Amino acid sequence: MAKVTKSKKKTDQELIVDANEAMNRAIAPYSNFQVGAALECENGEIITGHNIESSSYSLTLCAERVAIFKALSEGHRSFKRIAIVASSGEICTPCGACRQILADFAPKAKIILSNKQGKMKRFQLRELLPHQFDASVLKS
Ligand code: THU
Repeated sequence: MAKVTKSKKKTDQELIVDANEAMNRAIAPYSNFQVGAALECENGEIITGHNIESSSYSLTLCAERVAIFKALSEGHRSFKRIAIVASSGEICTPCGACRQILADFAPKAKIILSNKQGKMKRFQLRELLPHQFDASVLKS
């Protein structure tokens, strides 16, 4: 985990800028649909991700899961916000698989979505994934 010097908390708009930069690095030669994510960790560190497509299409990874798995592998365990930007005209909400991973690892994170025109929408995960399945069910 990188050391973070105390700096001012980023605005939602600044987090979107980080997600947008990640989106520009997307590897999406098959769909040509670029997505970027910027995940704010509890200590303020920002970990980004973008979609990475495989020639065997189903092995493709979404931007959100790349960011979350990168962060988890660096030792982060708690997350405050995630900004997601897509190259689409419409705002791109996280796919079902990413909603589940958000439920497992970032259930409290504010979800900030933006499109290429800069339109912004904010969600809590429970709005996008009501009645979620998570570890608490396994223990019940
Ligand atoms: N994609 C994401 O990165 N995040 C989502 O939430 C939806 C879909 C990517 C996967 C694939 O590379 C492309 O967008 C088209 O589905």
